[in-house]
Amino acid sequence: MQPLIDSFGRTHNNLRISVTDRCNIRCFYCMPAENVEFMPRADLLSFEEIERFVRLMVPLGVDKLRLTGGEPLVRRDLPVLVEKLASIDGIRDVGLTTNGILLAEQAESLYGAGLRRLNVSLDALDADKFREITRRDGYEKVIAGIHAAQDAGFDPVKINAVAIRGITESELVGFGHFARETGCEVRFIEYMPLDADAAWERDKVLFAEEIIDTLSQEIRPLVPLATQDSRAPATAYEFDDGIGRIGLIASVSRPFCMSCNRFRLTADGKLRNCLFSLEETDIKSLLRGHAPDGDIIQAVRGSIAAKKEGHEINTARFIQPARPMHSIGG
Ligand code: 5AD
Ligand code: SF4
Repeated sequence: MQPLIDSFGRTHNNLRISVTDRCNIRCFYCMPAENVEFMPRADLLSFEEIERFVRLMVPLGVDKLRLTGGEPLVRRDLPVLVEKLASIDGIRDVGLTTNGILLAEQAESLYGAGLRRLNVSLDALDADKFREITRRDGYEKVIAGIHAAQDAGFDPVKINAVAIRGITESELVGFGHFARETGCEVRFIEYMPLDADAAWERDKVLFAEEIIDTLSQEIRPLVPLATQDSRAPATAYEFDDGIGRIGLIASVSRPFCMSCNRFRLTADGKLRNCLFSLEETDIKSLLRGHAPDGDIIQAVRGSIAAKKEGHEINTARFIQPARPMHSIGG
């Protein structure tokens, strides 16, 4: 079958599946502080619906999956879904992005279910700063979750920290040492305009270049790894003594849209061909309307064919999507 190629020649093999828009913390760059409107539970795709969709995507070349949220571990029985997806012939690997709060309880069963790639979102190593960003307690639980994940066999555990000017600078050196001491790869993601309060401004982004400079000066020189995954958004670096890996995701200062291989299924079954798309394709209605396989595949092809060249964050044309990050799925 013809792979999922868009009009710019990009092949799409990487599907990110959001399993809930709910979350047990409230990071300001992703969710409003109060009065969050969550999807009605009946709108969430069932595990069976997700599995059917993924099975239809494999012959189109999809071989990489990542489960996201909201916070995916608040979805009941998530390891059951992981096992269903990881055992599909043609799926090379299944990843998960979590805030880590419930990870200590679930790390072993997730590993046992076949999960291998694990990213934990953690924006600060200082408990007060963690509370300021997430508007909740839970720092100790996240740290315990990271250790539990390492004990369960996840290697490496990757840490995602959103890089925000005025907040992240004082965390950089701590994270550098954390990477060196724990073996976790710490990845800094430039703050993107996906917050619910539309408070993002370009001036609030801490740029990758500045992070590299600070870590190189304060700890040791960072050098780019010789082998990079050309389609991954992160550029991987290592300290020059070979101890400690740092990733930089320069979504704003150096957009990587031209090598994008991703598309997304929201928890309520809408297909998004980009984090920033303003349009969605309704897959849930097709699944629930018992549409034949061919109709679902056609709908996906249509979505990919309509994919735009890239986000326009750096232009006056930029329009922030109506869905905030927690309901898109990171
Ligand atoms: N900008 C950059 N990264 C974000 N994430 C959530 N919202 C934003 C944003 N506005 C990241 C989280 C997590 C993943 C789900 O997406 O930190 O790692
Ligand atoms: Fe929850 Fe992730 Fe959003 Fe933080 S970034 S509020 S952990 S969904």
